Amino acid sequence: MAAARRILVVGGSGFVGQAVCRSALARGWEVLSLSRHGAPERPAADQGRLASGVQWIKGDALRPETFREHLAGCDAVVHSVGVLMENGYKGLVNAGAGSGPSRAAATYEAANRDTALSVAQLARETAGVGAFAYVSAKDTIPFIDPRYISTKREVERELLAHRDRLRPIILRPGFMFSPARPLTLPVAAGVGAFQVLFDRTPLGCVLRGTPLEKAASPALRRELVADAIVAAIDDPQVEGILEIPDIERLGAS
Ligand SMILES: NC(=O)c1ccc[n+]([C@@H]2O[C@H](COP(=O)([O-])OP(=O)(O)OC[C@H]3O[C@@H](n4cnc5c(N)ncnc54)[C@H](OP(=O)(O)O)[C@@H]3O)[C@@H](O)[C@H]2O)c1
Repeated sequence: MAAARRILVVGGSGFVGQAVCRSALARGWEVLSLSRHGAPERPAADQGRLASGVQWIKGDALRPETFREHLAGCDAVVHSVGVLMENGYKGLVNAGAGSGPSRAAATYEAANRDTALSVAQLARETAGVGAFAYVSAKDTIPFIDPRYISTKREVERELLAHRDRLRPIILRPGFMFSPARPLTLPVAAGVGAFQVLFDRTPLGCVLRGTPLEKAASPALRRELVADAIVAAIDDPQVEGILEIPDIERLGAS
């Protein structure tokens, strides 16, 4: 039986963050979520359990004074904030999950990098915080602005450079899907079909070396990634960069 822990999930109201909160609650951990709006805007099927189990903190990862006091007593931090497109594709992807205002536009530098660096710095200064899980990404999307990945790699380097003070857990998933967000399912099916074409048909030879090659990576179920994050926090031996096979193994453990 794992020891009870207290974790802060930065972005705990988001797509990935909610699943992390659920997975941690299932282990009996104390869960705090930090986001600008507090509790999730859209109802989830098990919203009642999530709503009562998580302490929803309104604050801004870019403003340490809004969450400093909540880090005290935490064993670990999960960072699950970021944008794939600066002009916000989320309104479309979230359309099947209820109504709600779309999130404010943010730059890659602010959302993907600076929020993480800000929280990680404060985490390093806070006694007792031992692990920092960062939801990075594998470079799987052709033709996306390269700053999506470069800002994430900047954070990874910074976390690894301070590994003596804070155990870095860096996850590099590709596309994530969940039945809770119905529009993610056909995208995941398309990703899977492309991978089969790439791996098992002559088309793969044609596409090798083109920008489309990197799209031949498996989509992951959001809940599996969340379980992998929680399992990684719980195992002091796990640190560094976790690629898709590592995430699959940890998530299934
Ligand atoms: N979804 C995928 O398929 C996928 C694939 C690979 C990697 N990732 C990575 O996974 C991470 C999470 O993605 P997601 O899809 O879960 O995003 P999301 O649904 O948009 O959630 C983002 C969360 O961050 C919060 N947030 C945004 N700015 C903040 C700030 N300044 N301070 C505090 N909280 C803030 C949001 O709440 P408020 O707006 O209320 O602040 C929300 O809770 C990102 O880094 C993304 O790049 C996602």
